[in-house]
Formats: sequence, structure tokens, C-alpha cells
Amino acid sequence: MLHRITKASTPRSYEITPEPMYLNRRQFIASASATIGLGPYSKALAAPKGFQFGPDFNTDVVDGYEQLGENESVTFPTSFFSYNNFNEFGPDKRDPINLSSGFISRPWEIMIDGLCAKPCVLDVDDFVRPYTFESRVYRLRCTETWSMVIPWVGISLAEVVKRFEPLGSCKFIRFETVMRPTEMPNQNTSALPWPYVEALRLDEALNPLSLLAVGAYGQSLLNQNGPPIRLVVPWKYGFKSIKSIVRITFTAEQPRTAWNTQIPSEYGFWANVNPTVDHPRWSQATERRIGDFIRRKTLMFNGYLDEVAHMYEGMDLQKHF
Ligand code: MTE
Repeated sequence: MLHRITKASTPRSYEITPEPMYLNRRQFIASASATIGLGPYSKALAAPKGFQFGPDFNTDVVDGYEQLGENESVTFPTSFFSYNNFNEFGPDKRDPINLSSGFISRPWEIMIDGLCAKPCVLDVDDFVRPYTFESRVYRLRCTETWSMVIPWVGISLAEVVKRFEPLGSCKFIRFETVMRPTEMPNQNTSALPWPYVEALRLDEALNPLSLLAVGAYGQSLLNQNGPPIRLVVPWKYGFKSIKSIVRITFTAEQPRTAWNTQIPSEYGFWANVNPTVDHPRWSQATERRIGDFIRRKTLMFNGYLDEVAHMYEGMDLQKHF
């Protein structure tokens, strides 16, 4: 499996590579991959047509393509950057891009607290510095039944969790989004119980798929996508992938999460993508991949069955939805 991208502290490729050469690099890698037989990588690196990865991260070599099927390719970035759920700015898909220009995501502090040996407050750049950025292509499936395939850039959540040394009593990790009603207009309403909170069981946070993303498509996250750092949990419905995180808490109790608190009958704590459990108001059996005309069947655990099914053995996933 290929990964290892660039150390957070190493110079970015565009700082050391002349731009025309940099911009040609992906085509070079695509053809080189084909020549040396990297199969799925060459196919995926060539997609989407006419799209150039951004210059913020040196993310030529990526993980995650092997889980994509023959009829899947990376979603065109315009959709990822303009069709969003970020309820702090408003409920409509265009609210995040239209209403987030005043959102300030640097400087940014993250508090780590609760049941861990190393609680602290860190600037986000110090928070990510020890890690190697990785690029991972993951499906994101929203409960609203649309989905995308996104090339994220981020750091392993498992590595982050281990660094702060959870105590034996820690069973869950709670994540909290920033509270900034002056910059996030919808936080002045009671649309959701602010701040937005999400949580994972400790073993889910330690699963190698779990990512703390700082970018996508080779560039830093734009305001509508939850900068400077957000969670990405590809086998769960999109609402688990909490944006603009300011606090990570190690805890013994299952935390109360935003959507589960607001509408418990519709949004469970687990949020595992499960085509056999309908949302009370619509079916979850199929999804509309953004950019496609025909709906496709939704896959159990969003297609990451091999990587995550073992964590739920013995659990009734109809009851624990
Ligand atoms: N995080 C916060 N803080 N607020 C939100 O409203 N929406 C969630 C998730 N993270 C949300 C959030 C939902 S429902 C989805 S589908 C994804 O973000 C969408 O991420 P994207 O807009 O970057 O595609």
C-alpha cells in the first residue's frame, strides 16, 4: 500500500519546484504509474479530467484508490467546494460558500482534555507538526443520499489519539466545533444545539481509516469545508465528519452529539452507513453520486466493510443506527 506524503514541517513542493514543472508532475506520475504497473493508481491519478490538484500539499502518492470500484472516480472539486453542509452558516447547500468569507481559521487553538495523560492547548500548526500528511481518497456519503469521492489531505487520528495517551477509563473521543456567532450567522439561531459536537468510540478513533483532514484536492480546506482541521470518518454518514474542531475530549461516557440530540429518531449516535436501515423519512438503499445521472446502490459501511465490520460484531446495527 502506498502512502507517506510529506512531513508537516518540510517545505511544500511549490516552494522548491518551479511552477510549470510542479503543474506537470501529476501527468508525469500518471504516465509513470502506468509504465511501472501501478494499475489503479494510474487510473485514479488521471481523474477527474481537466482538473489540476492544488499546490498546498505534496500529495502525489495516495491511499484509498484500491477501495474504489471500476465505475468510480474522484468528484470534480467544484462540487466539494460549493455544495456543502456547514449548518453554522445556514441550512442551504450554498450558505457555507456564500456566508463564510468572514470566518477566520488562523490563528487557531485546539484544547485536548479529559481522560488522557497529556491534556494541553496547542496552536493548530503545532498540533499537526509531528505528523506526516497523507492523502486518502474516501467516499463521503451524506444521510441526504448524495455522495462524493474526495482526495483528502490529513493526519492519522489514531496517531493523534495515541500521542495524548488516553487513560484506561477512556472509552469515547468527543469533538467540538468552534463557537463564533459573529462569524457564523446560524449560531445565532436554535437550528442545532451549538456548538456542534460529534464523537467516536475509542476503537473507531483508532481505526486506520479515521483522518483529521487539513486539506483536500491538494489545497488547504476552504472556509466552507471546515478549516483548519476537521474529522473524516468514511464509513459513517457525513454528519460524523465534524468541521473546524477546537476541542478534543477523552471521556468515559458516550457523549451527546449535535444531530442525535436534535432529532434522535432520525440521527443515531453510530451513523454507520447502512443501506438496510432507512432514515424515517426516506430510503438509504441508494445514493446519488454527485456528477452521475443514475443512482447507485449504497454499500454497507460505505464500502469499507473489510476495514471496519469487525468493530461492530455482536452489535444490533438496526437498533444501534
Ligand atoms: N460540521 C459542523 N461543524 N457543522 C455541520 O453542519 N455538517 C456535516 C459534516 N460536518 C456539519 C459538519 C454534514 S451533514 C456533512 S454531509 C459534512 O460535514 C459535509 O462536508 P462537506 O461540506 O465538506 O462536503
